[in-house]
Amino acid sequence: MTVPFGSGRAQPYITRPGTPQEAAIMATIAAAVSLSPWSEERLLAACMDERTTGPVVRVIEEAGEVLGFMVYARVLDEVTVLEIAVCAEYQGRGLGQALLCSALQEMRRVGAVRCLLEVRESNQPARRLYQRNGFSIDGTRKQYYPCADGREDALLMSAPL
Ligand SMILES: CC(C)(COP(=O)(O)OP(=O)(O)OC[C@H]1O[C@@H](n2cnc3c(N)ncnc32)[C@H](O)[C@@H]1OP(=O)(O)O)[C@@H](O)C(=O)NCCC(=O)NCCS
Repeated sequence: MTVPFGSGRAQPYITRPGTPQEAAIMATIAAAVSLSPWSEERLLAACMDERTTGPVVRVIEEAGEVLGFMVYARVLDEVTVLEIAVCAEYQGRGLGQALLCSALQEMRRVGAVRCLLEVRESNQPARRLYQRNGFSIDGTRKQYYPCADGREDALLMSAPL
């Protein structure tokens, strides 16, 4: 999918399935921006998994350069977002929005009716992204994530598709 908005640059961003060859760059992005990053091995396995219920990996790129990625998995008619990450220097330019939008579209295309995810309570950029895309808070998992000063809650969110 071509994304002609949000980039503010000459070339549009493109979202598409990630490939095994891109596992290393995705892992580098994750390690730089995520508090619980996916490893290269895990991303590689996800890219190679061909089961319909296996993880789905999507990337966002510009001119051949992968700038972010997302992983989600479907069980029956529900999908769970497992990871979304955008290069630090490209955050706040709509790439997360474009990636999530394209994934939600793809989820609808395969017949999913609900999308679920967990997010750290303190993760304002991610919460804003999800809220803007129709996600609401269903509950809280107390003290779920380790953090710098102990542990923090996970918010359980979902959106109808
Ligand atoms: C969450 C993430 C993927 C969003 O990607 P992005 O490309 O910045 O997303 P967008 O540009 O579409 O912006 C999404 C929202 O976050 C806000 N935002 C982005 N960067 C921000 C920052 N550094 N500080 C505060 N808000 C920020 C944007 O303003 C926007 O909110 P708005 O629509 O209300 O203005 C990105 O911040 C990221 O990779 N974070 C680290 C990994 C992570 O936390 N993943 C989520 C796991 S649940």
